[in-house]
Amino acid sequence: MTATHDPRLPGEILDFLACPTPAAWVDWALENPETLLIDHAQCEKKAASTAMSLLYRYVDDSELLTKMARLAREELLHFEQVVKLMEGRGIVYRPIGAARYAEGMRRHVRSQEPQRLVDVLIVGAIIEARSCERFARLIPHLDDELAKFYRGLVKSEGRHYEDYLMLARRLGEESIDDRVAFFIAQEGELITTPDTEFRFHSGVPA
Ligand SMILES: [Fe+2]
Ligand SMILES: [Fe+2]
Repeated sequence: MTATHDPRLPGEILDFLACPTPAAWVDWALENPETLLIDHAQCEKKAASTAMSLLYRYVDDSELLTKMARLAREELLHFEQVVKLMEGRGIVYRPIGAARYAEGMRRHVRSQEPQRLVDVLIVGAIIEARSCERFARLIPHLDDELAKFYRGLVKSEGRHYEDYLMLARRLGEESIDDRVAFFIAQEGELITTPDTEFRFHSGVPA
């Protein structure tokens, strides 16, 4: 049995997302412990790289630069921690293909500024929120070492979600609620529909 509401998960995250992670994904993850960690490592590296690309593109936004520099550092630290954990477990870090997930949202990002940045930040908030929720969902099923590591990640990814959303909200006068609702709906679809391969952000087994 898997609990939908983990006590360590901030309630706000579940309210923000369209749906909780389906139980079928949790079972899928537990059947694929090696891929879970390899793809987790990939996700941390990509999270750092997304933050870095914002540092290059929006050099006049000091609030964004400060938040993203810190975020990139934290994600790289998480990456280092996953790699170390994998090493301890004798898991070989091999290249694996990306989930359809991030691209499934990014393809809807508008190309004009400042809309582009608003969308990129909203997508960032959603990815962080889902990661936070998935770590929390896995914790009750994991060994002590991994559970302890993931408990720490629930806190930091929850904070990253807040940072991204705050950065998106302070841009422009217009409300971003419609855009958030749009991307949340896309994300819900990617999470709840059949997927071909197991990944940290995959849908459910076909
Ligand atoms: Fe992370
Ligand atoms: Fe993060």
